[in-house]
Amino acid sequence: MSYNIAIDGPAGAGKSTIAKKIAAKMNFIYVDTGAMYRAMALHMIRSQVDPSDADKISETCQSADITIRYEDGEQVVYLNGENVNGLIRTEAVGNMASVSSVNPDVRKKLVELQQKLAGTADVVMDGRDIGTCVLPNANVKVYLTASTAVRARRRYDELTVKGENCDLKQIEADIEERDHRDMTRELSPLRQAEDAVLLDSSDMTIDEVVDAVIQMCGRKE
Ligand code: DC
Repeated sequence: MSYNIAIDGPAGAGKSTIAKKIAAKMNFIYVDTGAMYRAMALHMIRSQVDPSDADKISETCQSADITIRYEDGEQVVYLNGENVNGLIRTEAVGNMASVSSVNPDVRKKLVELQQKLAGTADVVMDGRDIGTCVLPNANVKVYLTASTAVRARRRYDELTVKGENCDLKQIEADIEERDHRDMTRELSPLRQAEDAVLLDSSDMTIDEVVDAVIQMCGRKE
């Protein structure tokens, strides 16, 4: 049986940073499910899909073949055979992902892929619905959050380092809008699973959060 760690939480809470470090320390595979939804969103943008056209999103997702490979320990997302890792971290793709991920056909396709991965390997998987829907029997579940101001600042710093021109206030507004959409959608909304441990990283260092999660694994084993 594979060992599964589920980390859910809102955008910018530090999920991927924490999950990557835990995976490296425990020799697990890190599965970034947001990257899969982002690759699907890139496919929607390229196909010029109107975000408000649900039928078109359902139809267009059928022509997206999304696969994951691990190259030098990094997750690489392929969209119809093309490595799209360098194209999916923009605000435009993130905003489209938040909209297109509401679609049941998009979710069905990606959840199947995620469950297959977790069934065959020890994984740390992060997303919005991992503990509640994708891996309800995960060995450890964490709900990682932080204040909106802290999360906006982190996203701003991340984008600025990459040379993207951005505005802190706009990012904060985008985060609030995305949180609202992720938390209020009908299908698999972002929420803390009943058996998940809540961690607020606003005033914690990365290593403190990593250690706290690894301790939870120790207790459960
Ligand atoms: O974590 P992220 O910012 O890369 O995620 C992009 C969007 O994908 C996010 O707004 C919601 C969606 N998502 C989801 O619905 N379910 C997941 N398991 C992961 C991400």
